[in-house]
Parts: sequence; C-alpha cells; structure tokens
Amino acid sequence: MSEDLVSGLLAAQDAAEGQASFDAFNRAHGMGAVRDPYPIFDALRAAQGPVARIQPALFLGGGAGGGSDSGMKLPPGMDGDVYVALSHEAVSRVLRDAELFSSAGYANTMGPVMGRTILEMDPPEHGRHRDLIQKAFTKKAIEVWERELIAPVVNGLIDRFAARGHADLVRELTFPFPVAVIAGMMGLPASDFPAFHRLAVELISVTSDFEGAVRAGQGLQEIFARVLAERRASPRDDLVSVLAHAELDGTRLTDDEIHSFLRLLAPAGAETTYRSSSNLIFGLLSHPDQLEAVRADRSLVPDAIQEGLRWECPLLGILRTATRDAEVCGVAIPAGSPVSLHLGAANHDPERWERPHEFDVFREKKANMAFAFGPHRCLGMHLAKCESEVVLNAVLDRLPGLRLDPAAEDVHVTGMVFRAPLALPVIFDPA
Ligand code: HEM
Repeated sequence: MSEDLVSGLLAAQDAAEGQASFDAFNRAHGMGAVRDPYPIFDALRAAQGPVARIQPALFLGGGAGGGSDSGMKLPPGMDGDVYVALSHEAVSRVLRDAELFSSAGYANTMGPVMGRTILEMDPPEHGRHRDLIQKAFTKKAIEVWERELIAPVVNGLIDRFAARGHADLVRELTFPFPVAVIAGMMGLPASDFPAFHRLAVELISVTSDFEGAVRAGQGLQEIFARVLAERRASPRDDLVSVLAHAELDGTRLTDDEIHSFLRLLAPAGAETTYRSSSNLIFGLLSHPDQLEAVRADRSLVPDAIQEGLRWECPLLGILRTATRDAEVCGVAIPAGSPVSLHLGAANHDPERWERPHEFDVFREKKANMAFAFGPHRCLGMHLAKCESEVVLNAVLDRLPGLRLDPAAEDVHVTGMVFRAPLALPVIFDPA
C-alpha cells in the first residue's frame, strides 16, 4: 500500500460528498430519539423471562418509553409476533444451532440491497463460502493493514485537528476513518473514494430509503466490477485480488459473489466500527478516572475495548428464523417464527454481569455478544479490534488532557437498533 493511497483516502474526506455524508447518515437513521433502551429490555425480561413474545414495532422505538426512531420501517416478514431472546443464555442457545435457527430471513431484508451474502447462508453452504472469504482476513493481512493503512489514516485525520485544541471526534475521526480503511483494503482507486463513501452511506440507509439503498448497491457494483476485472487480470496486494484468486477444493468465488461480499463490507465494516470506537471513547470520556488508568497502563486497552463493546453494543439485534418447532429456555417457538436475538440485552443480562449498565474496564473478563457467536460470528472481529486499538492509542498518545468539552450540551449514546453518540465534542492541550 502506498502513501498515495493514504493521501487519496484523506483527500476524499474533504470532498463535498464525504463531508455531507454524516448528516445524511444521521437523518436517514433518525437515530436521535432513543436514549436508553435498556430499561425496556429489563422490564420485558422481568415480565416474560429470557425469551419474550412481542410486536416488533416495540423494538423500532414505538413502545414503552421508547420514543421513535423516525423513518425506520419493519422488514418484510416482521409484521406478526416475534420471539425475542433477551438473556445471554437464550441468545447463545439460538446462535449455537444454525440449522434449527436459520439466517435465510436476511434474504428478504438485506438481499435486495446486498445481493446474496454469507450472512443469509446456512450450513453447509455458509461454511464453504466463509472458508473462501476468510483467506482475505488472515492475521498477516491485518498486520499489514494496521501498519500501512489504519495507523496512517487515523494519524492523518488527527493531524488535521491536533493543533486546534478542540474537535468533534465523531465527525473528524470515528465516522470517516473506517470507511477510508475499507476503501483502502479493497484497493479502490483514489478517484472512486468520494463516490464510494457516499454510496456506502446510502446503502446503510436501507431501513429509511429502500429504493435509494438499492440504487446505491448498483452504484457500488459498478465500482467493484471495474476493480475486480482489473485484479483478475493482474493481482495486487489488496482484498479484491485475494477474493478474485481464492480457491478451495477447486471452487472459486464468482463475480456476483464477490460483488455481494464487498457490498456487505460497507455496513458490516464501516458503520459498526464507527459506532464501537465512538462508544468506547465516550465510555472513557464520561469516566475520567478510567480514561486516566488506561492512558497510564496501555495493557488495559484490550479490556477497555471489550467493555466498550459489552456496555454499548453497536448493533443491538440480529435475526434468525426457526426451521422447526423449537424450545429455548423453556419457551416453545413454532416453526417459521422470526427470532430476534437481542445482543444488547444479552450484554446487560443481570444473571451474567454485575452492575450490567455500568461502564467498568476493570470488571471480570467474560465473553460478550457484540460480535455474536457460532458460525456467523463476525468475520471482521480481529480487524475491528485492531482498528479500535489503533484509534484509542492514537487518541491517548496525541491528545493530552483530553476531556469532554464542558460547553457541550448533554453528550450521550443514542439509538434503538444501532447505538452511538451523534457527536463527541472534546477539548485537549493543543500539540
Ligand atoms: C465493532 C465492530 C463490529 C461489530 C460490533 C460487528 C458485529 C457483527 C455481528 C453481530 C455479526 C453477526 C451477524 C449475524 O449473525 O446475523 C457480524 C457478522 C459479520 N461481520 Fe461484523 N462487526 C463489526 C466489524 C466488522 C468488520 C470491521 C468487518 C469487515 C471488514 C465485519 C464483517 C462481518 C462479516 C463479513 C459478517 C458476516 C459473517 C458471517 O455471516 O459468517 N464486521 N458482525
């Protein structure tokens, strides 16, 4: 990866399209309304137990104390009752059995926008595809991305405000950096970055503007098709080249399969990482004693990342469908029922976590559900952790005296389906 690539990625952040994208993204998600959904899940768990049966509108913000995530629409097939797994045990039991609880429902919700991706595949087809795709996410590849892409992009963005003494860390750092990283990993030409950024944002606005998201998917495909044709002919050291030439038992991925996978990476890789790194930094900023402890002892960084993911999980829920009559934690689930797995509620399950709603980097280490579990566990988990480590260390190294801007009003994490702060206004000692 060259310096030109990184400077091209950074320049793309200045393009008008890139600048407008955060506002467009927030408008589309209408995510300002629900400040704290956790009491709703606690009440539901207390009333109905680890698996509840509900009207799905409740989870899109219409219910008890929830306000409304304006503009969000129910996915097809979610207009009847839905079973909701709310405890760590219930969520893990469903995720452990991918044959009984199918992911095929994503074909209705995401398929029209993404195409057919591994997200909607069940075993054994899922395993074959995942093995092929995994070849692009090796430890060695992540080390190269960290050194040549993630660290230069993060530092390049911080260079722009380090001397100013104040910044909005969401707009200026945590929102733009993961999109730039994904574009760089794919090896897109710099001239495509601004369009990629805009289309990636439009694609993830699928719940509020379905037709716009489908159009964005087609626009992304045009970019990918060009790059893929070039890499099939002459491979380089990027993700598209690895996918183009990956082979398992004589099988290769088709162009369509590669396009769909690349489209999935926009929301899977960019949006969640913006959210997780923002939530982590907010957790530390709102607990200055823990911020100072992590600043002083960097061996705490991995624990802080884990706790950030547990405390404010970027993606609150995922979906499965029962393929046969099933039973989870004593609740009968009829064949064909949609089952929503509430990762956020599982991460705040009082049976598993003491003081579950508190951010505490020193808490006892236990696995949480932010990346899910089982065969579909996040494929980008190690990359996401690496990105969080780079961004947190850079913020701690380069922004001494970092604190929330006391003049800023009421900074908080928000959202009913996805969670993140809308802004992180901070002050620090200028470089
Ligand atoms: C903190 C950041 C992230 C979080 C919280 C997260 C969360 C998740 C979750 C919960 C799933 C499971 C979905 C399901 O089973 O229904 C998933 C799957 C996936 N994630 Fe991530 N993700 C993150 C970052 C990334 C990154 C950086 C990438 C890649 C660049 C990525 C790529 C994927 C892919 C390809 C899948 C599908 C895996 C499969 O179906 O086998 N994710 N992610």
